[in-house]
Amino acid sequence: MTATLLERRYQTLGPYSPLFYDEPLEFVAAHDVWLTDARGEQYLDAYNNVPQVGHCHPRIIAAMADQAGRLNIHTRYLNNHVVDYAEQLLGTFPPELNRVLFTNSGSEANDLAFRMVRQATGASGVLVSDFSYHGHTSYLAGLTTGLRTGEALAAEVRPIRIPDMDRTTLSEADLLAASFAEVDAAIESLDRAGYGLAGFLFDSLFSTEGLNTLPAGYITGVIDRVHAAGGLVVADEVQSGFGRTGTHFWGHQRIGAAPDFVTLGKPMGNGHPIGGVVTSSEMLDHFGPHNNYFNTFAGTPVSAVVGSTVLSILQDEQLPQKATILGASIKESLEKLRAEYPFIGPIKGTGLFFGFEVFDDEARQTPSAGRTKQLVEAMKRNHVLISRIGRDDSVLKIRPPLAFRSEHADRLLDALKISLKEV
Ligand SMILES: Cc1ncc(COP(=O)(O)O)c(C=O)c1O
Repeated sequence: MTATLLERRYQTLGPYSPLFYDEPLEFVAAHDVWLTDARGEQYLDAYNNVPQVGHCHPRIIAAMADQAGRLNIHTRYLNNHVVDYAEQLLGTFPPELNRVLFTNSGSEANDLAFRMVRQATGASGVLVSDFSYHGHTSYLAGLTTGLRTGEALAAEVRPIRIPDMDRTTLSEADLLAASFAEVDAAIESLDRAGYGLAGFLFDSLFSTEGLNTLPAGYITGVIDRVHAAGGLVVADEVQSGFGRTGTHFWGHQRIGAAPDFVTLGKPMGNGHPIGGVVTSSEMLDHFGPHNNYFNTFAGTPVSAVVGSTVLSILQDEQLPQKATILGASIKESLEKLRAEYPFIGPIKGTGLFFGFEVFDDEARQTPSAGRTKQLVEAMKRNHVLISRIGRDDSVLKIRPPLAFRSEHADRLLDALKISLKEV
């Protein structure tokens, strides 16, 4: 059955859009942190961050159905749910970030943020990590460094290497100095080329890069340089937001960053397509008067009610607080496993987003994409979903819904112990 569906997918969607696993999984149902495949088998979800509060959460289903049965209309009419949600969402940010524009995806949010950044600064140059992904619009394809896009990097983009204390022989001070020198050189080069610096875009967890362990003061130092050069800062919270990091509701707060724009997506609607750009009234005033910006599907009453219910569940079920505690205990267990397996690198991540680099050799010199892939496949055979990231595809990506609880963590760790023996 799955084989026939796969063939039909190839014949309609084409063979190029990625599917996970050597033999793709076909899911038919989900609840909480469990997915059910077409054969009726259950898989523990330790990968998906979109269903942040758990798959098919009953409160979200009820709120969505109720609002869909009353009114769903675009945003050029007044509606209390949309404004209520905007107030609730902005309440999670410091007072200076006091405006939100809704979008339908993370890509749209980053695209719109950079349109605003370019108009506010009058410049076009962009600093971005040299192994990153921020979305699929044509503008963002021009600054994608971590995935194939079939297009050259845009001339006004300068990729910078994000330092990782787990992947260097330099001291923290030397790594920081080298990284700042690279940023300074990139800003100078944009100036020389006549683009000037519009902005710096970063994922607050450096997820695509492989969950870098930053030297202390890196992000604040880069932000100071960007601001000094007249640029603006965009924190992409599509992966790191909505309590993912546990200790901080927004990932950039954990690393001490004060961005001018924050972009939102994935978990914002727990699966319902909603994203957003959060900024200040000052930034919006650079943009609003010159753009007749509206967005048919973004921020409808149904989206607003769903988004608001997600925020309420995160708060009522204290999911970020639980993610802090559970994440720390899982990391502790991973540290113990690391002592047993010399090919496991430093344990990375925070809250409920963690992993470790997998090496070929006991000296932990050569990252192993092959062994990492085998581990992901072995976890699947043990009915636990995870994935992998990083410039060498060698960092395990474990990022369950925040509804994950200690019994699920035990199951995850048991599967990992079995899988590690197999590779
Ligand atoms: C950090 C980051 N930003 C932006 C995006 C794009 O979001 P979307 O797929 O909703 O357009 C992604 C998607 O994977 C992402 O990981």
